[in-house]
Amino acid sequence: MSDFARRIPKAELHVHIEGTLEPELMFELAQRNGLTLPYLSAQAAREAHTFQNLQAFLDLYYAGCSVLRTEGDFFELTRAYLARAAGQGVRHAEVFFDPQTHTVRGVPMEAVVHGIQRALQEGEARFGISSRLILCFLRHLPEQAADQTLDQALALGNAITAVGLDSSEAGNPPSRFQRVFERAADAGLLAVAHAGEEGPPEYIWEALDLLHARRIDHGVRCARDERLMERLADEQVPLTICPLSNVKLRVFASLEQHNLRWLLERGLLVTVNSDDPAYFGGYVADNFEAVEEALGLDQDQVVTLAKNSFLASFLTPDEKARQLQEVDRFNAQASSKTTS
Ligand code: ADE
Ligand code: ZN
Repeated sequence: MSDFARRIPKAELHVHIEGTLEPELMFELAQRNGLTLPYLSAQAAREAHTFQNLQAFLDLYYAGCSVLRTEGDFFELTRAYLARAAGQGVRHAEVFFDPQTHTVRGVPMEAVVHGIQRALQEGEARFGISSRLILCFLRHLPEQAADQTLDQALALGNAITAVGLDSSEAGNPPSRFQRVFERAADAGLLAVAHAGEEGPPEYIWEALDLLHARRIDHGVRCARDERLMERLADEQVPLTICPLSNVKLRVFASLEQHNLRWLLERGLLVTVNSDDPAYFGGYVADNFEAVEEALGLDQDQVVTLAKNSFLASFLTPDEKARQLQEVDRFNAQASSKTTS
């Protein structure tokens, strides 16, 4: 198979930076910070990556986060992600982070944000990857905790472009966070939200109508609600779909049964992303290749997915136009090679 899907220029819009923590770096940081992990080796940690559902994954993910203590740790984590992303055709990354899982352990918000931000700036100079930072509120915690987190983040100036909502979805509807999202909007921040990963279509309606989310993270359960499908297609609301994640967390029984191709052919603005690549067995280009093969996508559909990733981003119209030209140029070059 060609490496067309691997190399095509793309944006990554759904990646949790803490979910890029590979077991080797986890061990290195644990040792440096004087912590012991419940695994004997990086290989053993990797073998523990089988999950019955979202909550089983989150339990392991938050335990893994506990090795991140200093600004330098967040810098190294983000730098390692960008080096990998550069090899996967990523030209732009909108990166989630979960500050609450660090601040409850006494890590200052500044250490988290400055460490990530410094690596993102270096990544732009070194790899030409532009970026945005998205602060996610943990939905299993009360709205009051999200309020405090927003205040801490706003005190750091304009490091953050948007707020998001993640963690345990079932029983934690977006409506519980309406007020803090209103405050974020008043402060000039955009909004996204995880909805319809394990939760019902109603949570996607709430994310749109109450949180004013510009994109829906996952959103695959929209398929159960025809009226919602029509709205998402009419308004071209982007879905940031994470195929390998959905199979690992048993949202779909197999990649062959994933509804991504069907949603794309119904005219929804679908994008492909990695979610927590260190846990789910693949970065963004690995996700592109996996769905291309399992769902039999043709070259035009791969190009559409790459273009959608830029269209759905928070880049300016000029930056989007420039990136879309790059996709066209790449496609034209690849086509001329196959016909010559
Ligand atoms: N946090 C990290 N990954 C997540 C996911 N897939 N869903 C919800 N919260 C998350
Ligand atoms: Zn996610």
